[in-house]
Amino acid sequence: MNRRKFAELHLGLNRRAFLKQTSAAALGASASSLWLPGCGSDASGGEEPFDPSKAWWLQGNYAPVFDEVEASNLQVRGSIPAALDGRYIRNGSNPSNGESAHWFFGDGMLHSVRLSGGRAMAYRNRWVRTGQLANGGVLGGIPGGANNASNVSAIYHAGRLLTSGEVGLPFEIDPSDLSTMGLFDFDGGLTQSFTAHPKIDPATGYLHFFGYWFLGEDLLLYHVADDNGELISTERVPVGQTTMIHSFAITEQDAVFWEAPVLFDIDAAIGGEAVPFRWDPSYGARIGVMPLGGPVGDIRWVEVDPFYVFHEVNAYRSGDDVIVDVCWHPDMFNGADLGDSSGGAVKRWRINTAGTELTYSEEVVADRLFELASHDRRFTGRQHRHGWFAVTRDRPETVDFAGVGHIDYQTGVASEWDPGITRHAGEAFFVPGDSGDAEGWLLSFVYDHVAQQSVLAILDAQDVASGPVAEVVMPQRVPYGFHGVWIPE
Ligand SMILES: [Fe+2]
Repeated sequence: MNRRKFAELHLGLNRRAFLKQTSAAALGASASSLWLPGCGSDASGGEEPFDPSKAWWLQGNYAPVFDEVEASNLQVRGSIPAALDGRYIRNGSNPSNGESAHWFFGDGMLHSVRLSGGRAMAYRNRWVRTGQLANGGVLGGIPGGANNASNVSAIYHAGRLLTSGEVGLPFEIDPSDLSTMGLFDFDGGLTQSFTAHPKIDPATGYLHFFGYWFLGEDLLLYHVADDNGELISTERVPVGQTTMIHSFAITEQDAVFWEAPVLFDIDAAIGGEAVPFRWDPSYGARIGVMPLGGPVGDIRWVEVDPFYVFHEVNAYRSGDDVIVDVCWHPDMFNGADLGDSSGGAVKRWRINTAGTELTYSEEVVADRLFELASHDRRFTGRQHRHGWFAVTRDRPETVDFAGVGHIDYQTGVASEWDPGITRHAGEAFFVPGDSGDAEGWLLSFVYDHVAQQSVLAILDAQDVASGPVAEVVMPQRVPYGFHGVWIPE
């Protein structure tokens, strides 16, 4: 990224801070000394090769791996912070039969790295034993129950590790060996879907989540489970049609939904189209704010211009305003695929709740697309200072992951670790240290397409631009994936 484009990232630009950050970014890009000589230096290769005759999600490091392996005492470059004692577990799409209609639909595979005492103790990868996997990697009709890929995320709540595929039920996983213990349905209370992005309220330990569905009256359900993992409420959120709702947000007192015009298309589903959703801006778009935990009858909606948002950074209350920081797309499934990130931006939504009608405004925080946002989950629903992101390069034929981005919402400074053209990170999951906001670490799998090697990169969350403080060499390639979680020991 050139300096001018970098400058465009800054809101309320502080020139001195900007120069300092860009210098750090340049230094980080060129002086990352953790990589072995010849392993992915820019001189040894350009961008990742691409075969236009194959789907982008079945080639390069999107291609699945077929071996479930275990390894111990992994090679480490640099120094793993001693405070990191636990397991990083990341989910992703890894089609067991080598075929998938879309990146979103391959069988879920988990990758786990155990860190302790400054050492990388072990790696393991395993498929989630779903109904789809048992069916040869083919979904058996409309998803539901165990018939789903469970490939999007991993959630740790009330001592349970769960995986989600957005639709259908979650699976419970044994963190120690990634074995699938079975479907998890909250003692029969959950019958439809479990979002990949539930929220844990740090004040109560309660799990707030939702699921969307395709048929009947319960097209969108909002659920709460208590800190023991017992389902304590389920309510129907009134919506007109089934839309793809990937995430939502909470504040200390609100639940925030957004309904964008990516509509489930029953005819496309029956006809076997790869993605049974279509962009239909005539449906409109709206943001709904309701009391945290209910009742849903108190939800109020404000109409906004059509958009699509997979991921928020976080949300919080500021007086009568509900602030939601989001990774914003102008549309989705509108002819172009995910590789087209043009027009994307990091935005801040502000919904004023004081009057009888909600009012809405927005601002652009960074006028390029950062995605796969993460935040310090000790601040879920509370004012956050920081957001961390996966950065992509402009490459319309594929999604070309680059480094890790950071926005400091207090200073307005954005910074980035640029790993070089041959290396590709993904979601950077924040693991807290012992004290305040941003004191902690970011974990992300990084693939070098020249060395054909994956590492788990560990970055200082307060100094992203300097690049990894440590890299753990993986015993096999780790395909690009979606979301991870950290389970402290
Ligand atoms: Fe997601």
